[in-house]
Amino acid sequence: MPFALCLTFAGCVEKSASINTDSSPAAITFKRNCAVCHKADGGGQILNGVQVPSLRAERARKASDEHLSNQIANGGGGMPAFGGILSNAEIKMLVFYIRQELQSSDK
Ligand code: HEC
Repeated sequence: MPFALCLTFAGCVEKSASINTDSSPAAITFKRNCAVCHKADGGGQILNGVQVPSLRAERARKASDEHLSNQIANGGGGMPAFGGILSNAEIKMLVFYIRQELQSSDK
């Protein structure tokens, strides 16, 4: 059912195809909730005048897992809080996805 929502979200399928063929739960969660701002490859962008940071940049690479999961759960600085939307397990999976997929190489 959440995946069906993704299919109705303009650009979601297209974006997911542009990074890689990863269809793991974490990849799907990222594409559905995060890619709209951070882009499917995590590269970030300026959106409505707000700088959405790259999750592959030095700052995010050096930040602790705890810092990343706190930001995801609590939001702030223009990012919505996902603590009430995603479970702790999903947030952990996203941090793992950021480390393994987005930060592992300069895609
Ligand atoms: C509405 C746009 C928006 C969405 C959706 C969004 N973010 Fe963000 N995100 C931001 C902005 C803006 C910041 C910068 C916050 C700051 O600098 O204080 C940010 C910061 C972050 C950071 C901290 C990066 C750093 O360098 O410290 C992480 C990690 C992050 N987002 C992950 C995610 C994940 C994972 C999702 C999906 C669950 C997500 N974001 C969804 C806009 C968004």
